[in-house]
Amino acid sequence: MNARSLVGKLSLAFFQWKNLVILLFVGLYVQSLYYSVMKSRDSQAGKRLGACRRRFVWRKPFLGRFESHWKPFLTTKSLYSLMDRPFTRELEKVLWLHKLPFGLQSSVLSAFATLQLLPQQELPEPFERLQCQRCIVVGNGYSIHGQHFGKMIDSHHVIIRLNDAPVKKHKKDVGERTSIRLFFPESALPNPLENNDNETLMVFVPFKPLDFLWLREVLLKTRNKTKVGFWRQPPWEWNGNVSHLRILNPYVTYEATYKLLQLKTWSRRYATTGIIALNLALHMCQEVNIAGFGYPGNHDNATPIHYYNMGRSREKELFQHNLTAERNWLLKMIKQGVIADIANPSFQAQNH
Ligand SMILES: *[C@@H]1O[C@H](CO)[C@@H](O)[C@H](O)[C@H]1NC(C)=O
Ligand SMILES: *[C@@H]1O[C@H](CO)[C@@H](O)[C@H](O)[C@H]1NC(C)=O
Ligand SMILES: *[C@@H]1O[C@H](CO)[C@@H](O)[C@H](O)[C@H]1NC(C)=O
Ligand SMILES: *[C@@H]1O[C@H](CO)[C@@H](O)[C@H](O)[C@H]1NC(C)=O
Repeated sequence: MNARSLVGKLSLAFFQWKNLVILLFVGLYVQSLYYSVMKSRDSQAGKRLGACRRRFVWRKPFLGRFESHWKPFLTTKSLYSLMDRPFTRELEKVLWLHKLPFGLQSSVLSAFATLQLLPQQELPEPFERLQCQRCIVVGNGYSIHGQHFGKMIDSHHVIIRLNDAPVKKHKKDVGERTSIRLFFPESALPNPLENNDNETLMVFVPFKPLDFLWLREVLLKTRNKTKVGFWRQPPWEWNGNVSHLRILNPYVTYEATYKLLQLKTWSRRYATTGIIALNLALHMCQEVNIAGFGYPGNHDNATPIHYYNMGRSREKELFQHNLTAERNWLLKMIKQGVIADIANPSFQAQNH
């Protein structure tokens, strides 16, 4: 071995060693960079979660406990659990002991028969994974007319709408996306796809035993349909996608009426679809906003009731509710920061 080749070998080894050191340093650097990025990301997510949790804590005194197994929709399984005694949870007790709209006493079989027609009954997965999401419940009140809230409403993750309120012709004011729509026979549209997205979850709210029958008849396309017993003629057909149809658990109505609004049992009144939707949102989402809530005052006969027509007469249905209690409760929730009204200037300052 001559000296030259030895030097060559040594220098090669030296270069390899140097490369190794460089590689090692680059590796360490990249790793530390990675950790610092992940850490800042975590702290951002932590901050966001913190903000979510704050609202969550706020809500607790009003909603009582949050049961982790709280399920918003009726399922065949939830009916089977009514056969297990003694009841371990309040939910089953309420369903068993109350009649509609709060429970299923004397309607269990009818509910069961109706559920047989629904291929899917649970909350769809994308909603299950809602974490720190911003939701909005869009009411049908005239107050939203001409307000151009459309973009702000559409910027929410989940948009909940009510009854037969149209969207297409009022995009500027109310937006155009709909994630969830609550309805009942008298407020159903024969062709829900015309005013919803093809993915909209259609949530049926049963208020009386007849409502289950109506749903079965339109799903089975029965020729001879029941006509009496509704406060307004419901449509003869319902051409929505049954895969996106769910039935609200009457317990959600019970909670909205007695836990949120705290109406008296003797008044035999119950929450409007708007407050029921808010209860759903408060359970599902971390941030809950509202738009278009509120009715004109009792003596105001000049302001239309809804944003989508000029009707000024109150529907018969409203006598089943207590609008004063609803207004007071909403104001209280807004004041406490549980819910925000997007028409409120402080909301817009917060979000821009
Ligand atoms: C829903 O509509 C969107 C856009 O209009 C379309 O891309 C999508 O395929 C539709 N989905 C179904 C299930 O029809
Ligand atoms: C249609 O329904 C009504 C009551 O719901 C019943 O009296 C009548 O016999 C039914 N007619 C037919 C042809 O089934
Ligand atoms: C109904 O919804 C399901 C699930 O999203 C979809 O696969 C199906 O194509 C829809 N049916 C119609 C008629 O749009
Ligand atoms: C409606 O609610 C208000 C406020 O909570 C209450 O004072 C009133 O008695 C209620 N009215 C009825 C008919 O229940």
